[in-house]
Amino acid sequence: MRLGILISGRGSNMTAIIEAVGSGAIPDSEVVVVVSDKTGAEGLEKAKRRGIETVAVTRKGRTREEHDAEIIAELKRRGAELVCLAGYMRLLSADFVAAFPNRIVNIHPSLLPAFPGLDAQRQAIEYGVRVSGCTVHFVDDELDHGAIILQKAVEVAATDTAETLSAKILEHEHALYIEALQLIVRKNYKIVGRKVFYD
Ligand code: GRF
Repeated sequence: MRLGILISGRGSNMTAIIEAVGSGAIPDSEVVVVVSDKTGAEGLEKAKRRGIETVAVTRKGRTREEHDAEIIAELKRRGAELVCLAGYMRLLSADFVAAFPNRIVNIHPSLLPAFPGLDAQRQAIEYGVRVSGCTVHFVDDELDHGAIILQKAVEVAATDTAETLSAKILEHEHALYIEALQLIVRKNYKIVGRKVFYD
């Protein structure tokens, strides 16, 4: 399967995906491009060092739809079949979602539907939950909302801060994302409503 990865920053999930594809842990796949909406995203250099083609597509005062159209074109030009959001900090337009139906996945650092949106780990700390975690889900038109593929729970200590909790959750994000991509690439699943069934 031909994967396109979208990032905005550090790119640790992106790196984990590239390495899992490279080692064959995610079988029969290729990362065809990494797209960032920020020219200075740290992840772009990491991708280049690993021999992956990169493009920065900045918003440049355009509408969300115009910006997304250029990203869709970059992905389609390289034959991307699955789009992996890995710390991509923009909401996708309905056109983007329609261009890759059930073919966009995201990782979010909370147990959805709790704490969607920005700063999920800080939201969890401020709320005082004792369990949080991460979620890999398909992307639909609503923020952090599509059908859930996998979740992993992480205990929250009373002494945790947004920073320590982020680090604890990140330890599990990479493995969870790879496990979800293995399921998708093996085409070993079906989506029924909000539920994803797999063996
Ligand atoms: C991760 O916490 C991910 O769950 C969220 O953004 C962060 C990206 O980190 N969507 P990285 O760029 O993959 O290191």
